[in-house]
Amino acid sequence: MSYTVPKLEDFSPSALDAAARDLKSALQSESAAISSEADWKVLRDRWMARKNGVLTLLNDQWLKAAPGPAKREVGQRVNEVKKVVEEQIDAALVRVSSAVSASRLEQERVDVTLPGDRRNLGIEHPLIRTMNEIVDVFKRMGYSVAEGPEVETDYYNFESLNFPPNHPARDTQDTLVIKGQQGKPLRERLLMRTHTSPVQIRAMEKQQPPIRIVVPGKVHRADTADATHSPIFHQVEGLAVDTNITFCDLKGTLDQAAKAMFGSSVKTRFYPSFFPFTEPSADMQISCFKCGGSGRLNGERCGMCKASGWIEILGSGMVDPNVYGFVDYDPKKYSGFAFGMGVERIAILKYGVDDIQLFYQGDVRFLRQFA
Ligand code: PHE
Repeated sequence: MSYTVPKLEDFSPSALDAAARDLKSALQSESAAISSEADWKVLRDRWMARKNGVLTLLNDQWLKAAPGPAKREVGQRVNEVKKVVEEQIDAALVRVSSAVSASRLEQERVDVTLPGDRRNLGIEHPLIRTMNEIVDVFKRMGYSVAEGPEVETDYYNFESLNFPPNHPARDTQDTLVIKGQQGKPLRERLLMRTHTSPVQIRAMEKQQPPIRIVVPGKVHRADTADATHSPIFHQVEGLAVDTNITFCDLKGTLDQAAKAMFGSSVKTRFYPSFFPFTEPSADMQISCFKCGGSGRLNGERCGMCKASGWIEILGSGMVDPNVYGFVDYDPKKYSGFAFGMGVERIAILKYGVDDIQLFYQGDVRFLRQFA
């Protein structure tokens, strides 16, 4: 702020011109130097404040100080200078505020041609997908979906399914029990359900026949993890009870499901088996979808079915009439069938996975293959 209003000795037109020129060039350079609205306010006050602003000083030091005859001339100059100052100060405000908003715009600029932050979409886990596919096959046949708890009582997991206390069939289930249950009566003791079959009982307790349900869910067994075993795995259970349900219905339903799951060219066969809650019981096998049931693939033994031409898929049977005794179904009026299959096993077969653990490790390189 080098410029100060000079006192004038000489009030001749040429001296006034020179003084006005000095003032205007000072104004010019001061207003060019500002770059913010705050700077501008300082500039405005310096030039236009009523008290001690340059314009006020002009009045005092030029106009009031001028001798009588020069007043007219000086007055005109002062008015002209005033106008210039006002215009310049106004223009300076326009310049800084548009510069400020331009830089703000620059900061907020959005380049719509830049690629967005793309978030990877997850996929349904292959096991859940397989489970849903199985459930869907039965939904299309009119089944509804039921679920039950993973922590079960001995009653639902065993007793009501016709596993009497101390029956050797219990040993086949590798049961994981909840600790601290010894004080309770056996039927109330808690355990991790070893199969989805307890939901058969829970569903039948809630409704009279006809019933057609599928039960997807997680089950637990005391197995050491390896390529073919996991202590936690998944099953889909099925139950149909109505009047006049026969073994033919069981075979027809499960044959249809196998064709829906593995392709219409697979054949099924039923093999004698045993479960305490079904009588008779049967394991269903499908003809090998890899070698077409011949047991040989390109002149070598088929690895999928171990050259037998058949692959075991599920356990099934006609509901044992003893079970109806636990749920108040009339065994003379009703009959039905049940089945249960392992989801991992079916997924392994469908997708050619050679290690069950891959399903649980969450390795994206494995999972991505199912996207
Ligand atoms: N719950 C049996 C198991 O886990 C499978 C099964 C279900 C068998 C229903 C027959 C009927 O081995």
